[in-house]
Amino acid sequence: MSTTGQVIKCRAAVAWEHGQPLVIEDVEVAPPKAHEVRIRNVATGVCHTDWEYMYGTGEGMKPRPFPLVLGHEAAGVVESVGPGVTIFSPGDQVIPLFLPQCGECERCLSPKTNQCRKNWANTQMGVLADGTSRISCRGQQVYQFLGVSSFSQYTVVPDTSLAKIRSDAPLDKVCLLGCGVSTGYGAALKTGKVEKDASCAVFGLGCVGLAAVMGCRAAGARRIIGVDVNPDKFAKAAALGATECVNPADHGKPIQEVLAEMTDGGVDYALECVGSPAVMSAALESTVDAWGTCVIAGWTEREAMKVKVEQILLGRTLKGTYFGGWKSVQDVPRLVDDYMNHKLKLDEFITHNLPLDQINVAFDLLNSGKSIRTVITL
Ligand SMILES: NC(=O)c1ccc[n+]([C@@H]2O[C@H](COP(=O)([O-])OP(=O)(O)OC[C@H]3O[C@@H](n4cnc5c(N)ncnc54)[C@H](O)[C@@H]3O)[C@@H](O)[C@H]2O)c1
Ligand SMILES: [Zn+2]
Ligand SMILES: [Zn+2]
Repeated sequence: MSTTGQVIKCRAAVAWEHGQPLVIEDVEVAPPKAHEVRIRNVATGVCHTDWEYMYGTGEGMKPRPFPLVLGHEAAGVVESVGPGVTIFSPGDQVIPLFLPQCGECERCLSPKTNQCRKNWANTQMGVLADGTSRISCRGQQVYQFLGVSSFSQYTVVPDTSLAKIRSDAPLDKVCLLGCGVSTGYGAALKTGKVEKDASCAVFGLGCVGLAAVMGCRAAGARRIIGVDVNPDKFAKAAALGATECVNPADHGKPIQEVLAEMTDGGVDYALECVGSPAVMSAALESTVDAWGTCVIAGWTEREAMKVKVEQILLGRTLKGTYFGGWKSVQDVPRLVDDYMNHKLKLDEFITHNLPLDQINVAFDLLNSGKSIRTVITL
């Protein structure tokens, strides 16, 4: 029976308030409006950004309204399309995007950025173009985290926040290209533009950091030093290309000094994949003063990092990366091709698979450092 034009009743993990476990609820997902697409989420990763928003105690994230459905690293299938949608059809395999690419605005037309602002203010606040969300629960509107909401069996996204991918791609793997792997891989290759034979330090060896390691290796870096306070991450980092790993806790001096000694003055590239302002400053200081590049991938929206002017005056570059610098709609299908052609790894990042009703276990695994990525099957 076709569900087109009907409200779909399905299950979702609803976040009712900050700091509390998610609750599996029956929700209603309205049909797509103009230039929107309703998708069936098949698989979703659980990213640190979801955790940070839900449980972070610092000042990191801007406040967003509750209740909401988290999740922004997913892959699924188009169920139906709203009026005016031309490039998607029911049955298409897709990856929803927390960063749009409208293809028409000044930023989309510029090769310098991936920061399209189509529907931006609304999706940042958890609603779509008309100022409302398509998900409701117990008669109440439920907001869509970053405009996506993949911890729901169905969701509705703008047609400019969706990438069509090849029909033979395994959705329970390529979902990781919706955030973590794309971000880290692009942090090295696209934003950092790591060069052949360079020396690199990657701070934080979770999904984003390990993908940055993979990106440094793809760029032909000669030394790739993984830095993490959890040594359990080192074996996987080595498997993905780290030439050595360092635990800051093993040294009686700041990690930037340790790295400077190891590399005779500092690394060419440092990639921060933790989300800590203190680590960001250490990453910048660990680069060589004359030409070092520090790329910030860790996500914090309101905190400040310390930068002494002299640290950049002599020639360092400090950059940030959002979604790895990829232009989302056009580049995600190419990254899927790279996975299918064995140029990019994804399976190695998946340490756990769980059903939706164990989503809180997935958060525990992430927070305790036991998982890289848990893929939730919806
Ligand atoms: N820029 C973007 O577009 C974007 C996209 C996705 C995620 N992120 C952010 O990237 C960061 C990493 O995400 P993730 O999903 O890989 O997280 P994760 O929790 O899987 O990994 C973080 C890693 O950092 C390590 N760590 C913690 N403190 C450290 C320290 N002082 N020094 C070194 N290592 C330390 C942890 O042990 C862990 O291995 C988060 O801040 C997340 O919000 C940014
Ligand atoms: Zn993410
Ligand atoms: Zn645009």
